[in-house]
Amino acid sequence: MIRKKIIAGNWKMNKTTTETKTLVLAIKDKLGKFDQVEVVICPPFTALQTAQEALGSHSDVALGAQNLHQAAGGAYTGEISAAMLRDLFCRYVILGHSERRQYFAESDALVNEKARVALKSNLRPIICVGETLAEREAGHMATVVTAQTKGSCAGFSKEDWNNVVIAYEPVWAIGTGKTATPAQAQEVHALIRKTIKQITGKPIADKLRIQYGGSVKPDNARELLNQPDIDGALVGGASLDAESFVAIIKNSVAT
Ligand code: PGA
Repeated sequence: MIRKKIIAGNWKMNKTTTETKTLVLAIKDKLGKFDQVEVVICPPFTALQTAQEALGSHSDVALGAQNLHQAAGGAYTGEISAAMLRDLFCRYVILGHSERRQYFAESDALVNEKARVALKSNLRPIICVGETLAEREAGHMATVVTAQTKGSCAGFSKEDWNNVVIAYEPVWAIGTGKTATPAQAQEVHALIRKTIKQITGKPIADKLRIQYGGSVKPDNARELLNQPDIDGALVGGASLDAESFVAIIKNSVAT
């Protein structure tokens, strides 16, 4: 089964509109025509329009957001709806990132609710799962990742699954410079695919793209992305620099 790789840049709470324009133009310039991999950038809400304008209408780079609110609209001060993101040409939305789970108390049930809203609104969710260091050291990695995967992905239809991406991001590897070894990451990716296979059957599980995230850099991308069940990367820090982001994209293609 050939799954097209997907590399997404999670900019987190970084980049003003001016900085966004500079970064997007540099990514486009360095990337050139390159359609072997699907590329997504996820700037903060405030820079989505600037990013879209800098990408231009025929760009191969897709736009994503970092979160949404599950309600269609109304009295939710400070929140952003799926329709607002579609209006700004977003195609993807990151959901359930460990920072949202940790600092904003997002549960699997809430992530699942948001994912269903995204799918109904023609936004493709990138659903993040991953264990903490304490959970891994206590031998609970498999239980935690399986429960998060099942809880966050409950009740999707067959059609929904065509538009879902899962990102495995071990919390201990995010922004720490500590990457999971390719073997460690592959083990968890295979576990996630097995979990999805039990829920949906083999054809859907075989098609599902599972990204790895956590200190992905140009020099470790190739080995990670050569693993059979690693279908892309969700890149934080290294996506804030055009040269390193584009190097990761180019290194993700099997050689
Ligand atoms: P990092 O972040 O690449 O800076 O570790 C990844 C993420 O949090 O998505």
